[in-house]
Amino acid sequence: MKRVFSGVQPSGNLTIGNYLGALRQFTELQQDHECFFCVVDLHALTLPQEPDTLRAKTLEVAGLILAAGLDPKRIVLFVQSHVPAHAELCWLLNGVTYTGELSRMTQYKDKAKGRKVITAGLLNYPILMAADILLYRSDLVPVGADQKQHLELARDIAIRFNNRFGNTFVVPEPFIPKVGAKIAALDDPSKKMSKSDVAESYIALLDPPDVVAAKLGRAVTDSGREVRYDAKEKPGVSNLLTIYALCRGMSVKKAEADFAGLGYAVFKKTVAEAVNETLRPIQTRYREFTSSGAVRQVLVEGAGRAAEASSLVLRQVKEKMGLLV
Ligand code: TYM
Repeated sequence: MKRVFSGVQPSGNLTIGNYLGALRQFTELQQDHECFFCVVDLHALTLPQEPDTLRAKTLEVAGLILAAGLDPKRIVLFVQSHVPAHAELCWLLNGVTYTGELSRMTQYKDKAKGRKVITAGLLNYPILMAADILLYRSDLVPVGADQKQHLELARDIAIRFNNRFGNTFVVPEPFIPKVGAKIAALDDPSKKMSKSDVAESYIALLDPPDVVAAKLGRAVTDSGREVRYDAKEKPGVSNLLTIYALCRGMSVKKAEADFAGLGYAVFKKTVAEAVNETLRPIQTRYREFTSSGAVRQVLVEGAGRAAEASSLVLRQVKEKMGLLV
């Protein structure tokens, strides 16, 4: 069985972008893959976090990953900091990664922009991500388009290490959806929807139906009246059409046909209905998981299984690099 690994940062409210770009693929892959999913709290520390909020969000994100439709008996779900091997391998891979590679990353440049000081963690972020993936000899990494460059670096690090020290790591493949890999922000369709932006810009997985309808009602559309997919000329409308099509499980072409001759107001209202139908079962399962206290238990078991699964690779890396083991 092929191995799958992916991570989600507990750095804000999970959005419909996270769901359509990543979590939905997790639920499909769990059927016939060995899956490891991780709440990457150490990654969140690369930007300032309020400690109590980070703790609460870590549990919330774990609950939402499960509520997206994952079966805790089939998958391993854990918190990154509970498995020290991630931080250890990250340090070891520091020795085979070049600062030039890190400073070229577009996410680093975006996040560093306008900051007075830049932490070393923000620069080294992709090394920790490579460690996450390589530790489990992962074959496939389901992510949105924004993580593609980080994944390419993880592949480069794996290949370099294997060449220098002998075959150790599996070189992972990205698993990026054809539609929905970059859901745009509601208030600015030229940007990706992000959980760390203002609430108006995203639909959170835990937003109540009236909030979803209000946010979509205010979403930036484009001049003209036609509901038609045209990513260049009509990025706002095209983004909402994509969200609608994915929520209803249909092609964008079919979605377009549903709105032929209809105006933006009806369009937005219908998109809100489709989004709310998608979110309702997730929110119900989230409440069930959290009220039963099951999430904590899943994370404890997950950390044990992840530690076991990663120990051999970490030992091999240490030996190959010349540490006394
Ligand atoms: P994060 O926490 O920003 O996002 C979690 C997942 O959601 C995807 N995503 C989106 N997809 C479509 N449209 C959007 N607007 C959108 N926003 C986010 C992301 O691509 C991601 O798949 N660095 C990662 C976390 C990570 C990781 C890993 C991922 C750490 N280690 C190892 C894979 C493997 C991140 O910040 O994702």
